[in-house]
Amino acid sequence: DARSQVEDVLLPFDLPLEKLCEVSKRLDENLTKGLTKETHDKASVKMLPTFVRDTPDGTENGDFLALDLGGTNVRVLHVRVEENLQNLLYKKPIPEYIKKGKVEELFNYIADVLAESLKELELKEKVLPLGFSCSFPCEQKDIDKANLIRWTKGFACSGGVGCDVVKLLKEAIKRKEESEEHNLFQVYKIQPVAILNDTVGTMMSCPYKDQSCEIGLIIGTGTNACYMEEMRDVKRVEGDEGRMCINTEWGGFGDGDDGSLQDVRTEFDKKVDLSSSNQGVHTFEKMISGMYLGELARLVLIEMTEKNLLFGGKGSKALSTPYSFKTPFISEIEKENTGLKRAQEILKDLGLSAKQKDCEIVQQVCETISTRSAQLCGAALAAVANRIRNNRGLSHFSTTVGVDGAVYAQHPHYSDRLQKTVQKLAPNCTITFVKTEDGSGNGAAMAAAVVKRLKRKKS
Ligand code: BG6
Ligand code: GLC
Repeated sequence: DARSQVEDVLLPFDLPLEKLCEVSKRLDENLTKGLTKETHDKASVKMLPTFVRDTPDGTENGDFLALDLGGTNVRVLHVRVEENLQNLLYKKPIPEYIKKGKVEELFNYIADVLAESLKELELKEKVLPLGFSCSFPCEQKDIDKANLIRWTKGFACSGGVGCDVVKLLKEAIKRKEESEEHNLFQVYKIQPVAILNDTVGTMMSCPYKDQSCEIGLIIGTGTNACYMEEMRDVKRVEGDEGRMCINTEWGGFGDGDDGSLQDVRTEFDKKVDLSSSNQGVHTFEKMISGMYLGELARLVLIEMTEKNLLFGGKGSKALSTPYSFKTPFISEIEKENTGLKRAQEILKDLGLSAKQKDCEIVQQVCETISTRSAQLCGAALAAVANRIRNNRGLSHFSTTVGVDGAVYAQHPHYSDRLQKTVQKLAPNCTITFVKTEDGSGNGAAMAAAVVKRLKRKKS
Protein backbone atom coordinates (compact mmCIF):
# COMPACT_ATOMS: atom_id res chain seq x y z
CA ASP A 1 0.00 0.00 0.00
CA ALA A 2 0.91 3.69 -0.22
CA ARG A 3 2.15 3.82 3.34
CA SER A 4 4.69 1.09 2.92
CA GLN A 5 5.78 2.64 -0.38
CA VAL A 6 6.54 5.87 1.48
CA GLU A 7 8.52 3.88 4.01
CA ASP A 8 10.41 2.14 1.21
CA VAL A 9 11.60 5.48 -0.15
CA LEU A 10 12.73 6.55 3.33
CA LEU A 11 14.30 3.25 4.35
CA PRO A 12 17.85 4.05 3.15
CA PHE A 13 17.95 6.97 5.61
CA ASP A 14 17.29 4.69 8.53
CA LEU A 15 20.47 3.93 10.45
CA PRO A 16 20.36 1.27 13.14
CA LEU A 17 22.56 1.78 16.19
CA GLU A 18 25.08 -0.85 15.03
CA LYS A 19 25.58 1.04 11.80
CA LEU A 20 26.07 4.31 13.66
CA CYS A 21 28.57 2.58 15.91
CA GLU A 22 30.46 1.44 12.83
CA VAL A 23 30.41 4.96 11.37
CA SER A 24 31.82 6.24 14.65
CA LYS A 25 34.65 3.67 14.57
CA ARG A 26 35.46 4.40 10.94
CA LEU A 27 35.65 8.09 11.69
CA ASP A 28 38.03 7.37 14.55
CA GLU A 29 40.32 5.50 12.13
CA ASN A 30 40.18 8.50 9.84
CA LEU A 31 41.08 10.85 12.69
CA THR A 32 44.24 8.82 13.31
CA LYS A 33 45.07 8.79 9.61
CA GLY A 34 44.78 12.57 9.45
CA LEU A 35 47.07 13.09 12.44
CA THR A 36 49.79 10.78 11.19
CA LYS A 37 52.72 12.26 9.31
CA GLU A 38 52.93 9.53 6.69
CA THR A 39 49.22 9.35 5.88
CA HIS A 40 47.81 12.83 6.44
CA ASP A 41 48.39 13.90 2.84
CA LYS A 42 45.83 11.41 1.63
CA ALA A 43 43.47 11.68 4.58
CA SER A 44 39.90 12.75 3.87
CA VAL A 45 39.54 14.08 7.42
CA LYS A 46 42.29 16.65 7.42
CA MET A 47 42.92 17.02 11.18
CA LEU A 48 44.44 20.46 10.91
CA PRO A 49 46.76 21.73 13.65
CA THR A 50 45.51 25.10 14.89
CA PHE A 51 48.48 26.23 17.00
CA VAL A 52 46.05 26.92 19.81
CA ARG A 53 47.76 25.23 22.73
CA ASP A 54 45.95 26.82 25.55
CA THR A 55 42.54 28.11 26.46
CA PRO A 56 42.35 31.54 28.19
CA ASP A 57 43.60 31.61 31.81
CA GLY A 58 41.68 34.66 32.96
CA THR A 59 44.65 37.06 33.07
CA GLU A 60 44.07 38.37 29.54
CA ASN A 61 42.96 41.97 29.15
CA GLY A 62 42.45 44.77 26.64
CA ASP A 63 40.24 45.74 23.71
CA PHE A 64 40.06 43.43 20.73
CA LEU A 65 38.22 43.20 17.50
CA ALA A 66 36.92 39.95 16.11
CA LEU A 67 36.08 39.30 12.53
CA ASP A 68 33.88 36.30 11.94
CA LEU A 69 33.47 34.98 8.41
CA GLY A 70 30.72 32.38 8.77
CA GLY A 71 28.87 30.37 6.16
CA THR A 72 26.10 32.94 5.90
CA ASN A 73 27.20 36.16 7.60
CA VAL A 74 30.20 38.34 8.29
CA ARG A 75 30.24 39.65 11.83
CA VAL A 76 32.46 42.13 13.63
CA LEU A 77 32.65 42.21 17.40
CA HIS A 78 34.36 44.43 19.92
CA VAL A 79 35.48 42.49 22.96
CA ARG A 80 36.83 44.06 26.17
CA VAL A 81 38.24 41.00 27.79
CA GLU A 82 38.60 41.98 31.45
CA GLU A 83 35.01 43.20 31.57
CA ASN A 84 33.70 40.20 29.67
CA LEU A 85 32.09 42.68 27.33
CA GLN A 86 31.12 41.43 23.87
CA ASN A 87 29.55 43.87 21.58
CA LEU A 88 28.33 42.76 18.16
CA LEU A 89 29.09 45.83 16.04
CA TYR A 90 27.93 44.63 12.69
CA LYS A 91 26.45 41.57 11.03
CA LYS A 92 25.84 41.32 7.34
CA PRO A 93 24.87 38.43 5.08
CA ILE A 94 27.25 37.53 2.29
CA PRO A 95 25.45 37.85 -1.05
CA GLU A 96 25.58 35.01 -3.58
CA TYR A 97 27.46 37.06 -6.17
CA ILE A 98 30.23 37.71 -3.63
CA LYS A 99 30.40 34.00 -2.73
CA LYS A 100 31.05 33.22 -6.37
CA GLY A 101 33.08 36.27 -7.39
CA LYS A 102 36.79 37.04 -7.19
CA VAL A 103 38.40 36.38 -3.84
CA GLU A 104 39.62 40.02 -3.70
CA GLU A 105 36.01 41.14 -3.92
CA LEU A 106 35.05 38.92 -1.01
CA PHE A 107 37.80 40.46 1.08
CA ASN A 108 36.88 43.98 -0.07
CA TYR A 109 33.38 43.22 1.14
CA ILE A 110 34.75 42.06 4.49
CA ALA A 111 36.94 45.18 4.77
CA ASP A 112 33.86 47.33 4.09
CA VAL A 113 32.04 45.62 6.94
CA LEU A 114 35.06 46.26 9.16
CA ALA A 115 35.10 49.92 8.13
CA GLU A 116 31.40 50.29 9.01
CA SER A 117 32.02 48.65 12.37
CA LEU A 118 34.76 51.10 13.27
CA LYS A 119 32.19 53.89 13.19
CA GLU A 120 30.65 52.33 16.27
CA LEU A 121 33.86 52.55 18.29
CA GLU A 122 35.17 55.21 20.60
CA LEU A 123 38.34 53.81 22.00
CA LYS A 124 41.46 55.42 23.40
CA GLU A 125 43.67 52.59 22.24
CA LYS A 126 44.18 53.09 18.53
CA VAL A 127 46.00 49.86 17.80
CA LEU A 128 43.50 47.07 17.75
CA PRO A 129 44.57 43.43 17.70
CA LEU A 130 42.12 41.37 15.71
CA GLY A 131 41.14 37.72 15.93
CA PHE A 132 39.82 36.30 12.67
CA SER A 133 37.38 33.42 12.77
CA CYS A 134 37.24 31.81 9.35
CA SER A 135 34.75 29.05 8.64
CA PHE A 136 36.74 27.38 5.87
CA PRO A 137 39.45 24.74 6.02
CA CYS A 138 42.94 26.21 6.28
CA GLU A 139 46.37 24.65 6.66
CA GLN A 140 48.07 26.62 9.42
CA LYS A 141 51.76 27.05 9.93
CA ASP A 142 51.29 29.31 12.92
CA ILE A 143 48.54 31.07 14.85
CA ASP A 144 48.47 33.92 12.31
CA LYS A 145 49.12 32.08 9.05
CA ALA A 146 46.45 30.05 7.31
CA ASN A 147 46.40 28.83 3.74
CA LEU A 148 42.96 28.08 2.38
CA ILE A 149 42.61 24.42 1.38
CA ARG A 150 39.26 24.62 -0.39
CA TRP A 151 36.02 26.52 -0.50
CA THR A 152 33.02 24.76 1.02
CA LYS A 153 29.33 25.49 1.68
CA GLY A 154 28.53 26.93 -1.74
CA PHE A 155 31.39 29.43 -1.81
CA ALA A 156 33.18 29.18 -5.13
CA CYS A 157 35.34 32.29 -5.37
CA SER A 158 37.91 32.41 -8.10
CA GLY A 159 41.28 32.49 -6.40
CA GLY A 160 41.97 32.09 -2.73
CA VAL A 161 42.79 28.39 -2.62
CA GLY A 162 46.39 28.03 -1.45
CA CYS A 163 46.54 31.68 -0.33
CA ASP A 164 47.08 32.94 3.20
CA VAL A 165 43.71 34.37 4.25
CA VAL A 166 45.36 36.67 6.82
CA LYS A 167 47.39 38.18 4.01
CA LEU A 168 44.27 38.55 1.86
CA LEU A 169 42.61 40.39 4.73
CA LYS A 170 45.61 42.68 5.33
CA GLU A 171 45.77 43.52 1.64
CA ALA A 172 42.06 44.38 1.54
CA ILE A 173 42.45 46.65 4.60
CA LYS A 174 45.40 48.32 2.91
CA ARG A 175 43.37 48.92 -0.25
CA LYS A 176 40.73 50.60 1.92
CA GLU A 177 43.28 52.74 3.75
CA GLU A 178 44.67 53.97 0.47
CA SER A 179 41.40 54.55 -1.30
CA GLU A 180 39.36 56.61 1.14
CA GLU A 181 40.31 59.85 2.86
CA HIS A 182 39.23 60.43 6.44
CA ASN A 183 38.79 56.75 6.68
CA LEU A 184 38.68 55.26 10.15
CA PHE A 185 41.31 52.79 9.01
CA GLN A 186 43.67 55.75 9.33
CA VAL A 187 42.58 56.33 12.93
CA TYR A 188 42.53 52.75 14.10
CA LYS A 189 45.33 50.43 13.14
CA ILE A 190 44.01 46.93 12.84
CA GLN A 191 46.46 44.14 13.46
CA PRO A 192 45.30 40.60 12.66
CA VAL A 193 47.18 38.50 15.23
CA ALA A 194 45.27 35.23 15.34
CA ILE A 195 43.30 33.17 12.86
CA LEU A 196 40.99 30.39 13.92
CA ASN A 197 38.49 28.03 12.42
CA ASP A 198 34.92 28.81 13.60
CA THR A 199 34.83 25.57 15.60
CA VAL A 200 37.95 26.67 17.48
CA GLY A 201 36.46 30.11 18.11
CA THR A 202 33.31 28.44 19.43
CA MET A 203 35.35 26.26 21.79
CA MET A 204 37.48 29.21 22.94
CA SER A 205 34.44 31.30 23.72
CA CYS A 206 33.32 28.85 26.41
CA PRO A 207 36.15 28.53 28.93
CA TYR A 208 35.24 31.74 30.62
CA LYS A 209 32.03 30.10 31.69
CA ASP A 210 33.36 26.62 32.07
CA GLN A 211 36.98 25.53 32.31
CA SER A 212 36.48 22.10 30.80
CA CYS A 213 35.30 22.98 27.31
CA GLU A 214 37.56 20.92 25.08
CA ILE A 215 35.36 20.41 22.03
CA GLY A 216 33.91 22.97 19.60
CA LEU A 217 31.05 21.94 17.31
CA ILE A 218 29.23 23.65 14.45
CA ILE A 219 26.03 22.39 12.87
CA GLY A 220 25.01 25.27 10.67
CA THR A 221 25.46 25.89 6.97
CA GLY A 222 28.34 23.42 7.31
CA THR A 223 29.38 20.99 10.02
CA ASN A 224 32.69 20.50 11.75
CA ALA A 225 34.32 19.97 15.13
CA CYS A 226 37.61 20.63 16.90
CA TYR A 227 39.03 19.22 20.13
CA MET A 228 42.09 19.33 22.36
CA GLU A 229 44.45 16.53 21.30
CA GLU A 230 47.60 15.27 23.02
CA MET A 231 50.69 16.73 21.33
CA ARG A 232 52.36 13.30 21.33
CA ASP A 233 49.63 12.14 18.95
CA VAL A 234 49.88 15.19 16.70
CA LYS A 235 52.65 13.70 14.63
CA ARG A 236 52.60 16.53 12.11
CA VAL A 237 53.86 19.14 14.59
CA GLU A 238 57.18 19.01 16.47
CA GLY A 239 57.05 18.40 20.19
CA ASP A 240 55.37 15.98 22.56
CA GLU A 241 54.42 18.15 25.49
CA GLY A 242 50.93 19.38 26.28
CA ARG A 243 47.97 19.61 23.95
CA MET A 244 46.95 21.32 20.76
CA CYS A 245 43.52 22.05 19.39
CA ILE A 246 42.88 20.11 16.17
CA ASN A 247 40.36 21.26 13.60
CA THR A 248 39.08 17.89 12.38
CA GLU A 249 37.26 19.12 9.22
CA TRP A 250 35.06 16.07 9.64
CA GLY A 251 32.87 17.35 6.82
CA GLY A 252 35.36 15.62 4.51
CA PHE A 253 34.73 12.19 6.04
CA GLY A 254 33.76 9.70 3.32
CA ASP A 255 35.58 11.56 0.52
CA GLY A 256 37.64 9.60 -1.97
CA ASP A 257 37.32 5.91 -2.52
CA ASP A 258 38.00 4.39 0.89
CA GLY A 259 34.32 3.47 1.14
CA SER A 260 33.87 4.89 4.65
CA LEU A 261 30.30 6.00 3.95
CA GLN A 262 29.52 3.79 0.98
CA ASP A 263 26.91 1.70 2.78
CA VAL A 264 25.29 4.77 4.35
CA ARG A 265 24.98 7.17 1.45
CA THR A 266 21.71 7.15 -0.44
CA GLU A 267 20.97 7.92 -4.09
CA PHE A 268 19.66 11.28 -2.87
CA ASP A 269 23.00 12.09 -1.23
CA LYS A 270 24.74 11.33 -4.51
CA LYS A 271 22.44 13.68 -6.37
CA VAL A 272 23.05 16.48 -3.86
CA ASP A 273 26.77 16.03 -4.39
CA LEU A 274 26.47 16.13 -8.18
CA SER A 275 24.67 19.47 -8.12
CA SER A 276 27.00 21.05 -5.55
CA SER A 277 29.78 23.54 -6.26
CA ASN A 278 32.33 21.23 -4.60
CA GLN A 279 31.57 17.86 -6.19
CA GLY A 280 33.19 14.78 -4.69
CA VAL A 281 34.33 16.45 -1.48
CA HIS A 282 32.88 17.20 1.96
CA THR A 283 30.69 14.10 1.64
CA PHE A 284 29.78 13.82 5.33
CA GLU A 285 28.84 17.52 5.51
CA LYS A 286 26.43 17.04 2.63
CA MET A 287 24.50 14.45 4.68
CA ILE A 288 24.30 16.63 7.77
CA SER A 289 24.45 20.38 7.43
CA GLY A 290 21.97 23.15 6.77
CA MET A 291 23.24 23.93 3.31
CA TYR A 292 21.98 20.54 2.11
CA LEU A 293 19.15 19.22 4.32
CA GLY A 294 16.41 21.13 2.52
CA GLU A 295 17.72 20.00 -0.84
CA LEU A 296 17.76 16.37 0.30
CA ALA A 297 14.13 16.75 1.39
CA ARG A 298 13.22 18.29 -1.97
CA LEU A 299 14.73 15.38 -3.88
CA VAL A 300 12.79 12.90 -1.75
CA LEU A 301 9.56 14.85 -2.30
CA ILE A 302 10.13 14.75 -6.06
CA GLU A 303 10.71 11.01 -5.98
CA MET A 304 7.53 10.49 -3.98
CA THR A 305 5.53 12.73 -6.33
CA GLU A 306 6.80 10.79 -9.32
CA LYS A 307 5.71 7.57 -7.61
CA ASN A 308 2.29 9.13 -7.12
CA LEU A 309 2.63 9.04 -3.33
CA LEU A 310 2.26 12.81 -2.90
CA PHE A 311 0.23 15.72 -4.28
CA GLY A 312 -1.83 13.44 -6.52
CA GLY A 313 1.32 12.84 -8.54
CA LYS A 314 1.50 16.47 -9.62
CA GLY A 315 4.66 18.47 -8.94
CA SER A 316 5.29 22.16 -9.56
CA LYS A 317 7.83 24.43 -11.15
CA ALA A 318 9.03 25.59 -7.74
CA LEU A 319 9.47 22.03 -6.48
CA SER A 320 11.57 21.27 -9.55
CA THR A 321 13.86 24.21 -8.80
CA PRO A 322 17.04 23.21 -6.93
CA TYR A 323 17.29 24.50 -3.36
CA SER A 324 13.70 25.81 -3.39
CA PHE A 325 12.85 23.75 -0.31
CA LYS A 326 14.77 25.68 2.36
CA THR A 327 16.34 23.97 5.35
CA PRO A 328 14.51 26.19 7.88
CA PHE A 329 11.25 24.73 6.50
CA ILE A 330 12.29 21.42 8.06
CA SER A 331 12.50 23.00 11.52
CA GLU A 332 9.16 24.72 11.05
CA ILE A 333 7.38 21.61 9.75
CA GLU A 334 8.63 19.49 12.62
CA LYS A 335 7.35 21.83 15.31
CA GLU A 336 4.68 20.25 17.45
CA ASN A 337 1.21 21.76 17.13
CA THR A 338 2.05 24.27 14.40
CA GLY A 339 4.08 22.04 12.06
CA LEU A 340 1.35 20.58 9.89
CA LYS A 341 -0.32 23.92 9.36
CA ARG A 342 3.01 25.43 8.41
CA ALA A 343 3.59 22.54 5.99
CA GLN A 344 0.31 23.40 4.31
CA GLU A 345 1.44 27.03 3.81
CA ILE A 346 4.92 26.15 2.60
CA LEU A 347 3.63 23.61 0.09
CA LYS A 348 1.06 26.07 -1.17
CA ASP A 349 3.79 28.68 -1.68
CA LEU A 350 5.67 26.07 -3.68
CA GLY A 351 2.66 25.75 -5.97
CA LEU A 352 1.63 22.33 -4.68
CA SER A 353 -1.84 21.27 -3.77
CA ALA A 354 -1.44 19.38 -0.52
CA LYS A 355 -4.06 17.48 1.42
CA GLN A 356 -3.70 16.74 5.14
CA LYS A 357 -2.24 13.31 4.28
CA ASP A 358 0.39 14.95 2.05
CA CYS A 359 1.39 17.28 4.87
CA GLU A 360 1.83 14.32 7.20
CA ILE A 361 4.06 12.56 4.71
CA VAL A 362 6.12 15.72 4.18
CA GLN A 363 6.53 15.97 7.95
CA GLN A 364 7.73 12.36 8.01
CA VAL A 365 10.26 13.13 5.26
CA CYS A 366 11.58 16.10 7.25
CA GLU A 367 11.83 14.03 10.42
CA THR A 368 13.69 11.27 8.65
CA ILE A 369 16.26 13.59 7.12
CA SER A 370 16.91 15.70 10.20
CA THR A 371 17.06 12.62 12.43
CA ARG A 372 19.68 11.01 10.25
CA SER A 373 21.67 14.24 10.35
CA ALA A 374 21.56 14.40 14.17
CA GLN A 375 22.47 10.71 14.45
CA LEU A 376 25.45 10.96 12.10
CA CYS A 377 26.64 14.04 13.91
CA GLY A 378 26.18 12.24 17.22
CA ALA A 379 28.21 9.28 15.96
CA ALA A 380 30.99 11.66 14.96
CA LEU A 381 30.94 13.49 18.26
CA ALA A 382 31.03 10.17 20.12
CA ALA A 383 34.17 9.24 18.16
CA VAL A 384 35.86 12.44 19.32
CA ALA A 385 34.77 12.08 22.96
CA ASN A 386 35.77 8.39 23.13
CA ARG A 387 39.10 9.29 21.63
CA ILE A 388 39.87 11.93 24.25
CA ARG A 389 38.86 9.51 27.01
CA ASN A 390 41.07 6.73 25.64
CA ASN A 391 44.03 9.04 25.06
CA ARG A 392 43.93 10.19 28.65
CA GLY A 393 43.44 6.71 30.00
CA LEU A 394 40.27 7.76 31.81
CA SER A 395 37.46 5.45 32.83
CA HIS A 396 35.12 8.39 32.57
CA PHE A 397 35.46 11.68 30.70
CA SER A 398 33.36 14.78 31.24
CA THR A 399 33.48 17.86 29.07
CA THR A 400 31.39 20.66 27.80
CA VAL A 401 31.01 21.14 24.07
CA GLY A 402 30.68 24.67 22.73
CA VAL A 403 28.13 24.45 19.94
CA ASP A 404 26.77 26.86 17.37
CA GLY A 405 25.01 26.93 14.02
CA ALA A 406 21.48 27.43 12.76
CA VAL A 407 20.50 23.75 12.48
CA TYR A 408 21.38 23.05 16.10
CA ALA A 409 19.90 26.30 17.35
CA GLN A 410 16.65 26.36 15.42
CA HIS A 411 15.47 22.81 14.99
CA PRO A 412 13.00 21.81 17.71
CA HIS A 413 14.32 18.26 18.31
CA TYR A 414 17.83 18.25 16.90
CA SER A 415 19.72 18.74 20.15
CA ASP A 416 17.78 15.94 21.89
CA ARG A 417 18.39 13.48 19.10
CA LEU A 418 22.06 14.40 18.94
CA GLN A 419 22.49 13.99 22.67
CA LYS A 420 20.72 10.60 22.70
CA THR A 421 23.00 9.22 20.01
CA VAL A 422 26.15 10.44 21.74
CA GLN A 423 25.02 8.93 25.04
CA LYS A 424 24.49 5.56 23.41
CA LEU A 425 27.77 5.55 21.51
CA ALA A 426 29.94 7.14 24.18
CA PRO A 427 28.42 5.75 27.38
CA ASN A 428 31.51 6.56 29.44
CA CYS A 429 31.52 10.23 28.54
CA THR A 430 29.36 12.95 30.01
CA ILE A 431 28.83 15.70 27.53
CA THR A 432 27.22 19.01 28.34
CA PHE A 433 26.31 21.20 25.41
CA VAL A 434 26.79 24.95 25.75
CA LYS A 435 25.09 26.90 23.02
CA THR A 436 27.05 29.99 22.07
CA GLU A 437 25.79 32.87 20.00
CA ASP A 438 28.08 34.83 17.71
CA GLY A 439 30.44 32.77 19.79
CA SER A 440 33.24 32.09 17.43
CA GLY A 441 34.01 35.80 17.07
CA ASN A 442 34.24 36.12 20.80
CA GLY A 443 36.54 33.10 20.88
CA ALA A 444 38.69 34.60 18.13
CA ALA A 445 39.09 37.77 20.21
CA MET A 446 40.02 35.58 23.18
CA ALA A 447 42.63 33.83 21.07
CA ALA A 448 44.05 37.24 20.11
CA ALA A 449 44.10 38.13 23.82
CA VAL A 450 46.00 34.94 24.63
CA VAL A 451 48.56 35.80 21.93
CA LYS A 452 48.99 39.23 23.51
CA ARG A 453 49.37 37.73 26.98
CA LEU A 454 52.03 35.31 25.80
CA LYS A 455 53.93 38.10 24.03
CA ARG A 456 53.79 40.20 27.19
CA LYS A 457 55.20 37.29 29.16
CA LYS A 458 58.09 36.88 26.71
CA SER A 459 59.15 40.55 26.69
C1 BG6 B 1 27.94 31.73 14.16
C2 BG6 B 1 29.42 31.81 14.43
O1 BG6 B 1 27.21 32.03 15.29
O2 BG6 B 1 27.66 30.45 13.67
C3 BG6 B 1 30.14 31.59 13.10
O3 BG6 B 1 29.75 33.06 15.01
C4 BG6 B 1 29.78 30.24 12.56
O4 BG6 B 1 31.52 31.68 13.26
C5 BG6 B 1 28.29 30.17 12.42
O5 BG6 B 1 30.41 30.02 11.32
C6 BG6 B 1 27.82 28.83 11.95
O6 BG6 B 1 26.46 28.87 11.70
P1 BG6 B 1 25.82 29.11 10.27
O7 BG6 B 1 24.45 28.63 10.49
O8 BG6 B 1 25.95 30.57 9.98
O9 BG6 B 1 26.66 28.30 9.34
C1 GLC C 1 32.73 23.69 6.61
C2 GLC C 1 34.15 24.21 6.67
C3 GLC C 1 34.70 24.19 8.09
C4 GLC C 1 33.72 24.88 9.03
C5 GLC C 1 32.34 24.27 8.89
C6 GLC C 1 31.31 24.93 9.81
O1 GLC C 1 32.75 22.34 6.90
O2 GLC C 1 34.98 23.43 5.82
O3 GLC C 1 35.96 24.81 8.16
O4 GLC C 1 34.18 24.77 10.35
O5 GLC C 1 31.90 24.36 7.56
O6 GLC C 1 31.11 26.28 9.52
